Amino acid sequence: MAELKWWQKAVFYQIYPRSFADGNGDGIGDLRGMIQRLDYLQDLGIDAIWLSPHYPSPQFDCGYDIADYTDVAPEYGTLDDFREFLDGAHQRGIRVILDLVLNHTSHLHRWFIESSSSRDNPKRDWYIWRDGRDGGPPNNWYSTFGGSAWEYDARTDQYYYHFFFKQQPDLNWRNPEVRQAIWDAVRFWLDMGVDGFRLDAIGTIFEHPDLPDHPVQKSLVELGAAMEFASGPADREKLSKEWEAMFAYQVEQPGMHELMQELRSVIDEYDDRVLVGENEEIVYHGNGQNELHMVFNFPLMKTKQLTPDWIRANQQQRLAELAAVSPEAWPCNTLGNHDSPRVESRYGDGAHDDELARLHLAQMLTLRGTPFLYNGEEIGMTDLELQDISQFRDLMGVWVYHAVRDDLKLPAELALQRAAEASRDRARTPLQWVNAPNGGFSPAGVETWLPVNPNYAVGVNVADQEDDPHSLLNFYRQMLRLRKQTPALISGYYTSLHEEAADYLAFLRHVDADPFGGAGQTCLVALNFSEHSHTLSFNLKTRVARRRFSSSGRDGATDDMSRLDIGPFEAYVGELIS
Ligand code: NOJ
Ligand code: CA
Repeated sequence: MAELKWWQKAVFYQIYPRSFADGNGDGIGDLRGMIQRLDYLQDLGIDAIWLSPHYPSPQFDCGYDIADYTDVAPEYGTLDDFREFLDGAHQRGIRVILDLVLNHTSHLHRWFIESSSSRDNPKRDWYIWRDGRDGGPPNNWYSTFGGSAWEYDARTDQYYYHFFFKQQPDLNWRNPEVRQAIWDAVRFWLDMGVDGFRLDAIGTIFEHPDLPDHPVQKSLVELGAAMEFASGPADREKLSKEWEAMFAYQVEQPGMHELMQELRSVIDEYDDRVLVGENEEIVYHGNGQNELHMVFNFPLMKTKQLTPDWIRANQQQRLAELAAVSPEAWPCNTLGNHDSPRVESRYGDGAHDDELARLHLAQMLTLRGTPFLYNGEEIGMTDLELQDISQFRDLMGVWVYHAVRDDLKLPAELALQRAAEASRDRARTPLQWVNAPNGGFSPAGVETWLPVNPNYAVGVNVADQEDDPHSLLNFYRQMLRLRKQTPALISGYYTSLHEEAADYLAFLRHVDADPFGGAGQTCLVALNFSEHSHTLSFNLKTRVARRRFSSSGRDGATDDMSRLDIGPFEAYVGELIS
C-alpha cells in the first residue's frame, strides 16, 4: 500500500469554539482558551482539529452565518490570536482544518447588504433573488429550518432564497464572481498555513433553476409531526420519501461536482491539504483524486442503537462502495458532532452508558478510516435538557417550540420538551474542565452563553478524570496511543469475522509489509457490546496473539485465538504473532 497521507492516519477532534475554553472569563469560549488547552489536546493524543466557524458572525446559527470570511469573531480574539493558535497546534504536531460555509453567508455580510440595497447593485446576482407569485413567495419551497425558503425584501420588492434560516441567504454559485470571492478567502487561510477545510452543507449549494413547486401536500410542520408519530418502519419509510420529495429540487442539483473539482484544484495549489465534505454521498470522491478527500460515514450514525449487526452491515456496504470508486476513496467515521445528540446520551442504554461509551470509542479507533471525535465526549459529556425557552440559543429549538405550541396548539410543556429534543443546544454546552462552579469553564458567577451541565459535579470533568487511571478520559488516551502505535489499525484492511454474532463484533485489520520497510501486521479486534461473557473460537492459521489492549483485567501477555474469553463490554485488540 502506498504511504498514507497525514489525514488518513489522523484522528480528528472537533472544537466548537464557543464552548471549548473561555480564556478571558466572559462566558464565551475563545482562541486564548484554545491556546491554553493545546497541551491538553496533545496529551489526549489527537492529531488534527476541525474548528467549527471562528469567523465574525451575528450568531443566528451559532457561527454558521458568516459575516466575514477572512477574519476572526471579536469575541473569540484576533487574527494574531488565530495565528498563535495555529502555530501552537503545528508545534505540537496537530493539524488544523477550518469550517467553510459555502452555501450561504450571514444576512449581515457586506456582500448581502450591498446585494439587497437595490435591484441594480453589482452584487445583486450574488444571491438568489426572484419576483413573488400571486402576492406570495416565488414557489412553495421550505427552509429546512422551518417556514418558507423565501424572504420578502420590501425595499426592492423581491424575495431572496434561504435553505436555512432567513438570516442565511444562499449565495448564487452560478455567478463566477461568487466563486472567485470564496476561492480568495480559501487561499487566505491556506496561505496562513491551515491544513484544509470541512465543507458545510455542500448538498444545498445549487437549486433547480426553474424553481418548480414540490409535489407534497402536507406542510413542513405536518410532515414533521407525522414523522414524529410514525406508526412503524413502513410508515416512517413512506414519510421520509415525502420528505425527500419536498426538498428534491433544493438539494444535490447538477453542477456540484464541477464546483468541487474547481475547489479541489485551488486546494491542490498547496501541499498536502484536505477537504472533508459534510455529506455522506460517496460520489463526492469524484474519481478518487479530483473532488473531496473524505465524506462522512453518516449512515453509521442513523440508528438509535449501535448493535454489532448494524455496524457490520454499515461497514460492509460502505467499504464496498468506496472501493468501487477508487482505492484513494478513504473512509471517515463519526458518531457525533455539534448538530447531533451527545454520543453518550444517544447510544447509551441508561444502565451501561460508561461501558458503551468506551466501546463506541474503541469502535471509532479500530474500524478502517479516519475518525472524527467531538469535544467533550472524551469525558462522557451528556445532553443537557434546557428548562426554559429563554435559555435556548439554537433558533431551531425556538422554532419547534412555537410550531408545537402555536401552530399545533399543543400544551407549552410538550412544546418545551419537543424543542429541547430538536434543539442542538443540548450537545453544545460548555466543556467541563474541573469540579467547580461553571465546571471551571468560566469563573463562578459569570453567566455562560449556554448553561453548564451540572453533572460536572459528579465526575464529568477533565480534572477529576485526569487523576483517575480508570476514567473515560484515560481510556481515550490509552486507545489513542494504541492506535498511533499500531499500523494495522491505521491503514489495515478490514475483514469481518463471526458475522452472525449478535452480541459482539469481531474483525481483523491487516496491513502488508510495505516497500518502504514497514513490517506487515494483523490485529484481531473483539468488541463485546453485551453484558454476557463469550468464548470466541477463531479458526485462524496464526493462533497466538500478543495482547495489545484489553479493557478487562487479563493475565499473561498472549492469548489463544482458538479460545478467547471476552468479558462483558470488553474491548480487546490482539496482534497475531504465531
Ligand atoms: C450544517 C452545520 O453543521 C449546522 O450547524 C448548520 O446549522 C447548517 N449546516 C447550516 O450552515
Ligand atoms: Ca471568552
